[in-house]
Amino acid sequence: METMGNLRRTHYCGEVSMALAGQELVVAGSIAKCRNKGGIIFADLRDSSGILQMVFDDGTDREVFEKAAGLKSEYVVMAKGLLRERAAKTDKIATGDVELYVTKLRVLSAADTTPFEIRDEIKVKDELRLKYRYLDLRRPSMHEPLVVRSKICQIVRNYFCDNHFCEIETPMLMKSTPEGARDYLVPSRVQPGHFYALPQSPQLYKQLLMLSGFDRYFQIARCFRDEDLRADRQPEFTQIDEEMSFVTSDDVMTMNEGLMKKLWKDVLGVELKTPFQRMSWDDAMAKYGSDKPDTRFGLELQDVTDAVRSTEFAPFKNAIAAGGSVRLINCKGMAGELTRKTIDKLGDVAKTYGAKGLAYTRLTEEGETSSFEKFLTEEEKTALRTAAGAETGDVLLIVSDENNTRACTALGQVRLEIGRKFGLMDPKKFNFLWVVRFPLFEYSAEENRWVAMHHPFTMPTEDSMEIVESDPGACYADAYDIVLNGCELGGGSIRINDPELQGRMFKALGFTEEKARESFGFLMDAYKYGAPPHGGMAYGLDRMVMLMLGLDSIRDVIAFPKVQNASELMSGAPDVVDAKQLDDLRIAYLGEKE
Ligand code: AMO
Repeated sequence: METMGNLRRTHYCGEVSMALAGQELVVAGSIAKCRNKGGIIFADLRDSSGILQMVFDDGTDREVFEKAAGLKSEYVVMAKGLLRERAAKTDKIATGDVELYVTKLRVLSAADTTPFEIRDEIKVKDELRLKYRYLDLRRPSMHEPLVVRSKICQIVRNYFCDNHFCEIETPMLMKSTPEGARDYLVPSRVQPGHFYALPQSPQLYKQLLMLSGFDRYFQIARCFRDEDLRADRQPEFTQIDEEMSFVTSDDVMTMNEGLMKKLWKDVLGVELKTPFQRMSWDDAMAKYGSDKPDTRFGLELQDVTDAVRSTEFAPFKNAIAAGGSVRLINCKGMAGELTRKTIDKLGDVAKTYGAKGLAYTRLTEEGETSSFEKFLTEEEKTALRTAAGAETGDVLLIVSDENNTRACTALGQVRLEIGRKFGLMDPKKFNFLWVVRFPLFEYSAEENRWVAMHHPFTMPTEDSMEIVESDPGACYADAYDIVLNGCELGGGSIRINDPELQGRMFKALGFTEEKARESFGFLMDAYKYGAPPHGGMAYGLDRMVMLMLGLDSIRDVIAFPKVQNASELMSGAPDVVDAKQLDDLRIAYLGEKE
């Protein structure tokens, strides 16, 4: 192999154009493609910026020509030559009207045949691509998300710094605290039997930084959560995390609308309209059956309980008697598309989300056909149609349930399925909204107690302050989520800065005083020494990049992601470790759980 010798790169491949024609350039990169036509050799050179065609012919120095004849895909080379106009121009690559007529060639590294071709249009199994991630990442389409990601981070940093925020790093090795997802634990060698936890988020530290007088903090922070993987979830992910003192939730939302506006303008050239829509959690659930509504299309849910309140039809009657409701979606003019078969499939979706079934009525020119034809009286059917604003051509899809949230959620999923199936979600739209006034608590049947919907430091709304202990189910939080096209992009809240109120929160969450002190004593103490009112939020950076680029999975925007069982296929992590390493930590493996 050769060395670079005295050659130094003068230009990146993707940057050259006719403006440089006639100049001598030095470029460096990998061979993307080689075509040897006997007397003339074309070789495409790929670097991080693009592709440039190199040419060698009978006018080329013989030694250089011989070397070029030996080039293969993925060889790493450096070349010096004259940039000239290309005879056969192409618009397939950005530099398609020029080529480099090479005078010097250095082969810096040879390459074995790769397990798959390095070009964008390949059909290769995910496992193989992930095993050779470093090769997969060579493909230009795999570069784009990471380049955009880097640009986003730069804009975020500039925006926050311009607005008096200070970037501060918080610990990666911290104390494990209950609440939230499962922690990743790290054993301590110097204190056997003791464990650190990797941060699920910098939440506690950023609150303490407000108490330390930093006023405004941000961090692009790595977070770890031992939870099931999904397309928008990885065990290791990145947050854009922030906290501000002396603010209300309106202030936090306004500051962040400014950030979104800047990001979308600078990265995508899209002008967002602010302020974003704000919707209470109750409304989001009632209208969209989701706390992260996709507002790119209608098909809103309606509550028609009153129209059928006195019915004898058992599914409706029983749900209403148990304090539940009857909800529907009026699929306007969709009688043609929503056949019996399609409705049956939608029924399966409703059942997956806990509904007992999906009732329907189709209003066609030929009359009404419904799943409850024989069971509802004519008056009830009319009342239902009137309440729904139904006309000929419409289909009503109905869920009744004793649990209102379950009825809404199931119908909300049916709505999304219709949206997906009939292409109602415009991929070019960016529909942002804030969901506000979340319930402060949710009941955990598993733990048989109230748990915090966000986290235990979330400020209750003014009107909930007095009923935190007496009626947790009726309390709302001064919390907000930012939702984009049906995906939770981020969320946050105003925090409790009064130790007495924090104590009442812990009590409502079923913590004994000792348990609260054991887990959060340091935090409770800190709030005794003067705490400015403060609040903040965090975005999922990975989700942000994914949504900006219209990708389906955050895996595509993470350089070295994990797969379903949380392993990283390239390096093989997690892996077993030496007995000596375990012994140092005084740890023994008990074998798989029975
Ligand atoms: P939360 O838990 O809502 O809030 O997280 C904030 C955002 O982080 C992203 N996110 C994830 N992204 C990828 N993989 C995951 N496993 C994952 N989990 C969460 C989401 C989410 O909206 N400390 C609070 C914020 C605050 O109150 O300031 C917090 O972590 O986009």
